[in-house]
Amino acid sequence: MLFDITPKDNIKDLFGREKEIALLKRCVIEPLTVIYGIRRTGKTSLLKSVLNSIEMPYIIVDIRELFNESGTIRENEISLKILNELKKNMRISQRLKFSITDILSKINGIEISHFKIDIDTSKKFQLDSILEIINEVSLKNNSIFLLAIDEAQYLKYSGKRYNNILAWAYDNLKNVHIIITGSEIGILEDFIDIGNAESPLFGRMINEIKISHFDNNVSHSFLKSGFEEAKLKVEDNEINSTIEVLDGIAGWLTYYGYNRTVRKMDTYDSMNDVIEYGKRLIDSEMDRLINYSKDRYMAIMEAIAAGLNNWSTIRAYVTSKTGYISSTILNNHITKLLKYGFIKKSENRYYIEDPLVKLRCINKNR
Ligand SMILES: Nc1ncnc2c1ncn2[C@@H]1O[C@H](COP(=O)(O)OP(=O)(O)OP(=O)(O)O)[C@@H](O)[C@H]1O
Ligand SMILES: [Mg+2]
Repeated sequence: MLFDITPKDNIKDLFGREKEIALLKRCVIEPLTVIYGIRRTGKTSLLKSVLNSIEMPYIIVDIRELFNESGTIRENEISLKILNELKKNMRISQRLKFSITDILSKINGIEISHFKIDIDTSKKFQLDSILEIINEVSLKNNSIFLLAIDEAQYLKYSGKRYNNILAWAYDNLKNVHIIITGSEIGILEDFIDIGNAESPLFGRMINEIKISHFDNNVSHSFLKSGFEEAKLKVEDNEINSTIEVLDGIAGWLTYYGYNRTVRKMDTYDSMNDVIEYGKRLIDSEMDRLINYSKDRYMAIMEAIAAGLNNWSTIRAYVTSKTGYISSTILNNHITKLLKYGFIKKSENRYYIEDPLVKLRCINKNR
């Protein structure tokens, strides 16, 4: 169903992403691929749908989920997550004649009996040895194993340099190909940092896939098809004004359609509910990422939301709201907002890409 609010896992339900689907299908035959896109654009959906549609064994590890649970990411948590995902995907792999049991049986601390697989959670599992075993079994099977790391930028918030492990895997594990996604685009770029000679991944070839907004036509046909599928008659007017507010962000459009069709809400309530939901999501992201000088960061965002899009007008606004700010501090704050993807820059003009982030900054005190 097009207006299902969980990530899509079937390419039949993935709307308007034919190019990205074809590109990802080509990329999986290479060692490392990165999928970039701001929040709610459909990165996880692309990943799940494509990986489900090709005949290759895979797992998807959601790093945001690990991060939210503990606020930091220990190696053992990643290892356990990988082991649990392997367990979950056993049936798919059987269909592909790829035996995940062969992998699990080689790992110390895993008990395999006829009916069940027990992971001894009191044990420490080393990430590199698990990956080595996955590689070894894949090599024996003559297959490539896909390891997808969703929201990989969270690995950067951990003390450990996980990009070392990534570079090591790239160089040594020829039968494990890695796909990573990220919504805090600048942080993910810092994490990979391929252009920097000091970086462990320096000089490696990396495929990049960018997930953008739907353009107006695609947004329009997405909503139209979703309403048709749900057998709800909706006027063009409503579709147009929805796109005007929510732009082409797949997640917001889906949520609106879900409110209208599944929750049977009227136009007004549906839109208000999406805006409220967006507000809560954005506030919690800001709270998590920005833990000092919040007023100043907010003032910068307000200025940009109000259309003050160059450096000096932003500075004037921030000064009038929160007092003197040095150019170094303003630059630092702007750089941080850019890295997290809250704001964007094009030809020396700043703007806010997500319409709900923008709305939130305009109605800050609501
Ligand atoms: N191309 C698409 N066709 C249909 N539905 C989509 C598409 N892209 C995204 N969606 C829907 O939008 C919502 C957000 O998608 P998804 O979770 O895949 O995005 P994301 O970029 O991974 O978001 P986040 O940044 O929150 O992780 C989901 O409800 C999903 O079903
Ligand atoms: Mg996602």
